[in-house]
Amino acid sequence: MSTKSSDINHIWHPFAVPGDNDLLRVIVSGQGARVTDEDGHELIDAISSWWVNIHGHAHPYIARKVYEQFLKLEHVIFAGYTHQPAAELAERLQTILPGAPRRIFFSDNGSTAVEVALKMGIQFLKMQGKAEVKVLALENAYHGDTFGAMSAGQPGMFNHWFSEHMFKSIHAPVPNTPEKLERFEACCQEAAGGVFIYEPLIQGAGGMLMYSPEVMETMLGIARKHQMLTIADEVMTGFGRTGKMFASDHCADVPDIICLSKAITGGVMPLGVTAAKEFIFNAFNASGETVLYHGHSFTANPLSCTAALASLDLFETEKTMEHVEALSQWQAEAAQKLANNHKIANIRHQGTILAFDIVSNEQTGYLNSLRQKILTFFPENGILLRPLGNTLYVLPPYCVSKDELDTVYSIIKAFLRIV
Ligand SMILES: Cc1ncc(COP(=O)(O)O)c(C=O)c1O
Repeated sequence: MSTKSSDINHIWHPFAVPGDNDLLRVIVSGQGARVTDEDGHELIDAISSWWVNIHGHAHPYIARKVYEQFLKLEHVIFAGYTHQPAAELAERLQTILPGAPRRIFFSDNGSTAVEVALKMGIQFLKMQGKAEVKVLALENAYHGDTFGAMSAGQPGMFNHWFSEHMFKSIHAPVPNTPEKLERFEACCQEAAGGVFIYEPLIQGAGGMLMYSPEVMETMLGIARKHQMLTIADEVMTGFGRTGKMFASDHCADVPDIICLSKAITGGVMPLGVTAAKEFIFNAFNASGETVLYHGHSFTANPLSCTAALASLDLFETEKTMEHVEALSQWQAEAAQKLANNHKIANIRHQGTILAFDIVSNEQTGYLNSLRQKILTFFPENGILLRPLGNTLYVLPPYCVSKDELDTVYSIIKAFLRIV
């Protein structure tokens, strides 16, 4: 059996229509910003394999560190036991996280990092004596696919089957116009004293929608005025994506809880982190009644923690933030060059991410039929891209070369000529 036929016979892929396997590609290796399929075709990974990879694929330093750790200790229960990679990682995160010291709660992906944050926030506020804790989130939010994360997400096609099983949350607009500011304030009044969860600066799965640090500052100021506990979901934006180490570093207000995943391990192993301010942790210390009853089998997996430590080493030895700066500059230049193209609208750029909508006579959105054309055209032309409907975005690993990025944009221009 070939890999492809075994896959087709036995695997249920995420976000996929069963039986729709025409575009399925078998990837056999990766190096730097490229992956190679079983026929030897190289693809430039223009979306960092679902926004996770930052230093490049199969990085030998991370590989060696993980291998060495495996020979010492591959996994151990994290309730009542600990190990060096988790302890060192928690300590090193203090040196980079905004608002440290923070307590580091480990889990194993972005959705669980969010679940933990919501549970921490809700339980903390209830322990302070609040009878009902409301959850405020942003319109177009995406926080993951587990039930709590879905409940905070924008209601719609991704979660409508489960709507009566999800908890109710209030959705406010990003306050970037006077009218939206008024609505945002009204929603904060309604949710006063509750938790406010938001994706700082960029709403990824909601369409790569961006807002400025000033708007973020305003938003957090209003939330604070209404005594809300703030949760920054930095699952996508953390570790350099927005041009700074964390998107929260773009403004002075420090969130109470920060969720991390994806690039924390360099994008090579699953790991989730929920980093809470000490005052939250301290409130859970009173008695058995106040325990946060949450944990996963692979919490703080030593191999994942080792990959995260190796990734932090690379930030120093490979001067990763200098790559981030260069890539951010190239993306700004690309945005300028594309700005006058009449086939695109709403071009937007923040740090290492550039996004735009392709003009179409259908509605902008996930189901726009351009999606299928994009999914066909780009791999055939050596580019791994996965659009959000007719929204195209380029979000490569920071090790991408200028030549590789130029290739991505030349293929994008070729596509724009034929649509
Ligand atoms: C902002 C944000 N939060 C949470 C998640 C969920 O992460 P995961 O897919 O690892 O569960 C994502 C995934 O794209 C995300 O973009």
